[in-house]
Amino acid sequence: MGLVQFISPRIGGDWSMSCRNHQSISLLKMARMWNVPLPVQCRKGLCGTCAVRVTPQGKQQQLCLSAFERQTLRCLGKLPAVLDSEGQKPWKGPYWRLACQCIVGTGDQFFVAF
Ligand code: FES
Repeated sequence: MGLVQFISPRIGGDWSMSCRNHQSISLLKMARMWNVPLPVQCRKGLCGTCAVRVTPQGKQQQLCLSAFERQTLRCLGKLPAVLDSEGQKPWKGPYWRLACQCIVGTGDQFFVAF
Protein backbone atom coordinates (compact mmCIF):
# COMPACT_ATOMS: atom_id res chain seq x y z
CA MET A 1 0.00 0.00 0.00
CA GLY A 2 1.39 3.41 -0.98
CA LEU A 3 1.47 6.22 1.53
CA VAL A 4 1.79 9.92 0.71
CA GLN A 5 1.84 12.70 3.26
CA PHE A 6 0.82 16.02 1.73
CA ILE A 7 2.22 19.07 3.53
CA SER A 8 0.96 22.57 2.79
CA PRO A 9 -0.51 25.62 4.55
CA ARG A 10 -3.34 25.31 1.99
CA ILE A 11 -4.57 22.17 3.77
CA GLY A 12 -5.22 24.04 7.02
CA GLY A 13 -5.16 22.58 10.51
CA ASP A 14 -1.83 20.86 11.08
CA TRP A 15 -0.90 21.45 7.39
CA SER A 16 -0.52 17.77 6.59
CA MET A 17 -2.68 14.90 5.41
CA SER A 18 -1.77 11.22 5.04
CA CYS A 19 -3.27 9.40 2.04
CA ARG A 20 -3.10 5.73 1.06
CA ASN A 21 -3.56 4.01 -2.28
CA HIS A 22 -4.14 0.35 -3.18
CA GLN A 23 -3.28 0.68 -6.88
CA SER A 24 -0.79 2.74 -8.89
CA ILE A 25 -2.29 6.15 -9.62
CA SER A 26 -1.01 9.64 -10.34
CA LEU A 27 -0.19 11.89 -7.45
CA LEU A 28 -2.80 14.34 -8.74
CA LYS A 29 -5.52 11.68 -8.81
CA MET A 30 -4.57 10.65 -5.29
CA ALA A 31 -4.82 14.27 -4.13
CA ARG A 32 -8.26 14.59 -5.74
CA MET A 33 -9.47 11.35 -4.14
CA TRP A 34 -8.56 12.70 -0.69
CA ASN A 35 -9.68 16.31 -1.37
CA VAL A 36 -6.17 17.73 -1.11
CA PRO A 37 -6.28 21.25 -2.65
CA LEU A 38 -3.39 20.78 -5.09
CA PRO A 39 -3.28 23.51 -7.79
CA VAL A 40 -3.84 22.17 -11.31
CA GLN A 41 -4.53 23.39 -14.85
CA CYS A 42 -3.62 21.32 -17.92
CA ARG A 43 -3.34 17.82 -16.34
CA LYS A 44 -0.98 16.90 -19.22
CA GLY A 45 2.46 17.81 -17.88
CA LEU A 46 2.66 21.01 -19.91
CA CYS A 47 1.93 24.02 -17.66
CA GLY A 48 3.86 23.21 -14.45
CA THR A 49 1.03 24.42 -12.18
CA CYS A 50 1.01 21.13 -10.26
CA ALA A 51 4.79 21.14 -9.49
CA VAL A 52 5.43 19.79 -5.97
CA ARG A 53 8.48 18.93 -3.82
CA VAL A 54 8.67 15.18 -3.24
CA THR A 55 10.84 13.54 -0.57
CA PRO A 56 10.93 9.73 -0.36
CA GLN A 57 10.50 7.97 2.98
CA GLY A 58 12.24 4.72 3.73
CA LYS A 59 13.91 2.82 0.89
CA GLN A 60 15.27 4.62 -2.15
CA GLN A 61 12.91 4.83 -5.07
CA GLN A 62 13.69 5.23 -8.75
CA LEU A 63 13.07 8.67 -10.19
CA CYS A 64 11.46 8.12 -13.59
CA LEU A 65 10.34 11.21 -15.47
CA SER A 66 8.21 11.17 -18.61
CA ALA A 67 9.43 13.24 -21.56
CA PHE A 68 6.72 15.86 -20.90
CA GLU A 69 7.58 16.06 -17.23
CA ARG A 70 11.31 16.35 -17.91
CA GLN A 71 10.81 19.12 -20.48
CA THR A 72 8.36 21.10 -18.32
CA LEU A 73 10.55 20.87 -15.19
CA ARG A 74 13.56 21.94 -17.25
CA CYS A 75 11.65 25.00 -18.51
CA LEU A 76 10.69 25.85 -14.91
CA GLY A 77 14.32 25.47 -13.77
CA LYS A 78 13.30 22.61 -11.46
CA LEU A 79 14.87 19.58 -13.13
CA PRO A 80 17.19 17.73 -10.72
CA ALA A 81 20.80 18.30 -11.77
CA VAL A 82 21.74 14.71 -10.90
CA LEU A 83 19.63 13.09 -13.64
CA ASP A 84 21.25 11.48 -16.63
CA SER A 85 19.89 11.92 -20.16
CA GLU A 86 17.35 9.13 -19.58
CA GLY A 87 16.08 10.71 -16.34
CA GLN A 88 17.04 7.56 -14.41
CA LYS A 89 18.96 7.87 -11.15
CA PRO A 90 18.48 6.56 -7.63
CA TRP A 91 16.03 8.87 -5.95
CA LYS A 92 17.45 10.46 -2.82
CA GLY A 93 15.19 13.55 -3.01
CA PRO A 94 13.69 15.95 -2.41
CA TYR A 95 12.95 16.69 -6.04
CA TRP A 96 10.37 18.61 -7.98
CA ARG A 97 7.74 16.48 -9.69
CA LEU A 98 4.58 17.25 -11.61
CA ALA A 99 1.67 15.77 -9.66
CA CYS A 100 -0.26 15.01 -12.86
CA GLN A 101 2.69 12.95 -14.21
CA CYS A 102 4.10 11.38 -11.02
CA ILE A 103 2.78 7.84 -10.51
CA VAL A 104 2.45 6.62 -6.92
CA GLY A 105 3.10 2.88 -6.75
CA THR A 106 1.57 0.66 -4.10
CA GLY A 107 4.96 0.34 -2.36
CA ASP A 108 5.88 4.03 -2.52
CA GLN A 109 6.00 6.27 0.51
CA PHE A 110 6.89 9.95 0.40
CA PHE A 111 6.23 13.48 1.59
CA VAL A 112 4.78 15.96 -0.86
CA ALA A 113 5.07 19.71 -0.19
CA PHE A 114 3.23 22.38 -2.17
S1 FES B 1 -1.45 20.40 -14.33
FE1 FES B 1 -0.22 21.26 -15.89
S2 FES B 1 1.66 20.21 -15.61
FE2 FES B 1 0.35 19.22 -14.19
